[in-house]
Amino acid sequence: MLFKRRIKPLLGLDISSTAVKLIELGGDRQHPQVISYAAVGLSPDSVTDKQVTDPEAVGQAIRKAIKQSGTRTREVVVAVGGATVISKTIAMPADLSERELEQQIRLEADQYIPYPLDEVGMDFEVLGPSAEEDHAVSILLAACRNETIDNRVAAVHLAGLTCKIVDIESNALENACVLIGEQFKLKNPEQGVAVVDIGATTTTLNIMQGGNIVYTRDQAFGGKQLTEEIMAHYGLSYEEAGKAKRRGGLPDSYGDEVLKPFMQDVISHVERALQFFFSSNSRIEKIGQIVLAGGCASIPGLDQAVEEHLEVATRIADPFAGMKILPRARPRQLKLDAPALMTACGLAMRSFD
Ligand SMILES: Nc1ncnc2c1ncn2[C@@H]1O[C@H](COP(=O)(O)OP(=O)(O)OP(=O)(O)O)[C@@H](O)[C@H]1O
Ligand SMILES: [Mg+2]
Repeated sequence: MLFKRRIKPLLGLDISSTAVKLIELGGDRQHPQVISYAAVGLSPDSVTDKQVTDPEAVGQAIRKAIKQSGTRTREVVVAVGGATVISKTIAMPADLSERELEQQIRLEADQYIPYPLDEVGMDFEVLGPSAEEDHAVSILLAACRNETIDNRVAAVHLAGLTCKIVDIESNALENACVLIGEQFKLKNPEQGVAVVDIGATTTTLNIMQGGNIVYTRDQAFGGKQLTEEIMAHYGLSYEEAGKAKRRGGLPDSYGDEVLKPFMQDVISHVERALQFFFSSNSRIEKIGQIVLAGGCASIPGLDQAVEEHLEVATRIADPFAGMKILPRARPRQLKLDAPALMTACGLAMRSFD
């Protein structure tokens, strides 16, 4: 090409259980920069179990985020995730054309998807030659109920935006992880990297190897538990407890009586998730590094505590490390929130496709 292709302006929009998080990237894949950023909180029942249950409320939050960010881009990428997504790796004959492959997959899909096919949105990706079968390719098949997708898209429409891509959360995370590859440099590439996203209601263990996520598993655990402990301990409301957690100002007893037990809880959840992984997967024998993501990764001292207990080098994810951040994207706030923005960042990267 004679001229450098301009990127498609797209907003990465992560609709999570606590907030709507918006990121816009510019530059190019090699030199991305953050052009806009905003996060707007959601009330507790707007999104439950990865489903948008109140599209109106979510739509309003998105509208607010757009305004706050100052962006003029109106096309977005969202993601579905968790148990709402069914994904399977299947083998198909290597000599099929793209069209034949699609037809064949549609014919076979009902074996893998526990819903009537007209009730799901489906997509697939050719991963490469199959490791198990000769003359076959390995296909990643993903499906999600239409209802789940429709509610998300409805929220986006209510905010006056167009939904260009519906991605999968683990795919977005993978993209963000590739971006921060430097943070994943291992002396021994045979080893895996555990990316643990500790959000408000869900903790997800992702195992990465050679730039790909090879394993993902959710647990119902997160920072909401700490918020509830603070509420019970100090008689605060949900909002007050949530704020105090980030900004401090709680009595001295907080550290020993509330925070420490929670941190121990985090460690045992990570430990158990890793044990579960090792018991179900034989190919990766050792985890060379743990990367903490999600809002709880910002808890001071959590990284050291995890490292000491599990005896694995542990660091905090920063998807914007080394990126230029324009003043409009509020660099200080962005850096504070960075660990919780892996998914939003990975979605925003779809602009570079
Ligand atoms: N500095 C901080 N110290 C302690 N906790 C924090 C801090 N910042 C954020 N949190 C907590 O992190 C959680 C939110 O994290 P995150 O934004 O990753 O969650 P989410 O993606 O909305 O949730 P989920 O993934 O469960 O849907 C909240 O419980 C919040 O209180
Ligand atoms: Mg999350």
